[in-house]
Amino acid sequence: MNLTYLICISIFNVGILGVYGFTRSTIRSLEMKSNVPITHAHHQWYVVAENDKIEKNVPTKIVLNNVPITIWKTNDNSYAAVHDICPHRGVSLSRGRVDTKTGCVVCPYHTFKYNSCGRMVQSPGQKNLRTSTTFSHKTDIVYYRIKEVNNWVYLYDKPLYDVFESPPLHDVWFEPEAFDQDYRYITLSKDFNVDARTVTENSLDILHISELHNFGNPRDPLPKSDKTEKVGEEHTRVSYKYKAGPTSIPKLVYNIEELIIENEYVLPHYTVARVKFGDFINTIVTSAMPISDDKTKLFVKTYRNN
Ligand code: FES
Repeated sequence: MNLTYLICISIFNVGILGVYGFTRSTIRSLEMKSNVPITHAHHQWYVVAENDKIEKNVPTKIVLNNVPITIWKTNDNSYAAVHDICPHRGVSLSRGRVDTKTGCVVCPYHTFKYNSCGRMVQSPGQKNLRTSTTFSHKTDIVYYRIKEVNNWVYLYDKPLYDVFESPPLHDVWFEPEAFDQDYRYITLSKDFNVDARTVTENSLDILHISELHNFGNPRDPLPKSDKTEKVGEEHTRVSYKYKAGPTSIPKLVYNIEELIIENEYVLPHYTVARVKFGDFINTIVTSAMPISDDKTKLFVKTYRNN
């Protein structure tokens, strides 16, 4: 998978609405059919970071739907996530440090220590760590479920108070390539000054394929056929069949006449674009993290089995 392809999917597509394939109204109608509110008021798993960009024991601030959250990775590679604002005097915990003995994040102002469940376990002068699991609105902060799989760090956006709260009902959605040994992948991320819905829609745009990609066919740019399948309650796939261009890589190198492009939309913010020619499959998965109403971080993972 070359960089042009990646950049096309994640950068150049912004501003080109999905003229063919998934359009804003298509996405809206999928949402209505699946009884998912347009605003997605229910909680979700979001990709919030790339594991290899997060240093161990260094607090990192992320902002998800306007909520500041501090995440950190401990010595054993497990993650923690708590609200970023220290309840004592309102300082950002991400500007502090991680205490490697306790695994707590330490506020940079008065050094209060917060554990992975948001409990303030030690203030200056206190010898012993507080062990109570009861949430105190005066001293503690909410925490979030967070986990890493295949270099993506996923966070469930429901603020948690109870340390014994059971795992969320909606589990993380993973692309099948994530667990297939035949695939290799690379990841990247990119910030956009536009809302997450627009970024997601543009990840699904396919009209540019014929012109911009080396497997496209500028002389015969439209698909020969298409098929729509409902994969799950919040997951739809559209498959397009194309004739390979005479100078395209599939035709020139492999003498392949036909290629399939699968576009998937997994509500509300995952997309998949899967290019199949012969035995070769290249897949691009995107996950849009809404930072605010007009800022988005897009995470892109590209797989190939060749
Ligand atoms: S502001 Fe955080 S400990 Fe005082």
